[in-house]
Amino acid sequence: MIGGRAILLVCALTQIVFAQNQAAKEPPAQPLPFSHKLHAGALKVPCKMCHPGPDPGEVMTLPEASKCMECHSAIKKDSPAIQKLAAYANTNREIDWVRIYQIPTYVIFSHKTHLDSGAKCQDCHGPVAERERLFRETDISMGGCMACHRAKNASIDCTTCHDQLR
Ligand code: HEC
Ligand code: HEC
Ligand code: HEC
Ligand code: HEC
Ligand code: HEC
Repeated sequence: MIGGRAILLVCALTQIVFAQNQAAKEPPAQPLPFSHKLHAGALKVPCKMCHPGPDPGEVMTLPEASKCMECHSAIKKDSPAIQKLAAYANTNREIDWVRIYQIPTYVIFSHKTHLDSGAKCQDCHGPVAERERLFRETDISMGGCMACHRAKNASIDCTTCHDQLR
């Protein structure tokens, strides 16, 4: 089932993914200047206020503008950035954040299983609470997943992460 062509494809893709990881060291321009260093670091707002990981816990989710307004309807109302934020909330628009850690939909991944097995946010996302702007600073390519699976004795069977190969 997994012949030479698949292996060649994997090699070619590893190079593309490597090139993307290099490019991703720069934080992308975001629609609002949101700082984890301020909110999660200095203010110690818990990750789960904004990323609750609703059942079944596959995704952590990004917060709606209305979540931000729980504070910003009172805090820094006169700041241009907060006025832009309020405009999203008032019109119920999604904030079009540029995604940092996103893997293709053909890969099976669940936050819950990993958190239950003892993994911490920073194992896969780096020291988020120290970052003014996020960028992709850890390796969550196939190689990165495999390295931890090997280290923790988790399955590295192709079908663990790709059900199409079943
Ligand atoms: C728990 C309360 C709280 C929540 C929730 C919160 N913020 Fe803040 N935010 C603050 C505080 C406090 C400051 C610092 C205000 C200051 O500098 O005096 C701040 C500052 C900011 C600033 C800088 C504003 C400026 O001009 O200096 C931006 C932008 C911002 N927040 C965006 C957001 C966004 C986007 C969200 C939602 C994803 C959010 N905040 C959620 C409390 C919060
Ligand atoms: C006040 C709300 C808030 C808090 C608290 C918060 N975040 Fe976030 N987080 C956001 C917003 C808004 C974004 C999208 C903008 C960005 O990438 O900076 C985001 C993006 C992320 C991303 C990138 C997601 C992607 O793939 O695009 C990760 C990873 C993340 N947060 C982890 C954390 C961790 C870990 C903590 C706790 C240490 C935390 N966040 C605390 C609001 C928050
Ligand atoms: C084992 C690695 C791993 C751990 C541990 C982990 N994440 Fe993630 N995270 C990922 C991957 C992979 C993605 C991309 C998922 C996708 O695109 O389907 C992601 C995506 C995200 C996103 C974007 C929205 C979403 O859910 O897709 C946020 C926010 C996030 N993680 C926050 C966190 C927080 C907060 C923690 C700790 C409570 C955490 N992550 C722990 C690997 C991890
Ligand atoms: C920090 C170490 C670590 C990283 C990084 C990691 N994993 Fe895992 N993963 C584990 C462990 C440990 C288990 C076994 C959990 C168990 O059986 O309770 C596991 C189990 C799994 C499972 C089977 C359980 C389930 O959720 O169905 C899948 C699928 C999976 N990982 C996908 C991924 C993917 C995709 C990536 C990369 C984006 C990744 N993992 C990165 C540690 C990791
Ligand atoms: C622990 C999880 C995990 C395991 C096990 C795994 N992969 Fe992957 N695989 C991934 C992730 C994550 C990506 C996406 C990388 C990216 O684009 O960032 C990927 C991407 C791929 C791609 C690229 C597909 C495309 O069209 O872009 C191929 C082919 C592939 N894997 C084949 C395999 C084969 C063959 C095996 C068994 C030897 C395997 N994978 C085992 C996580 C895994």
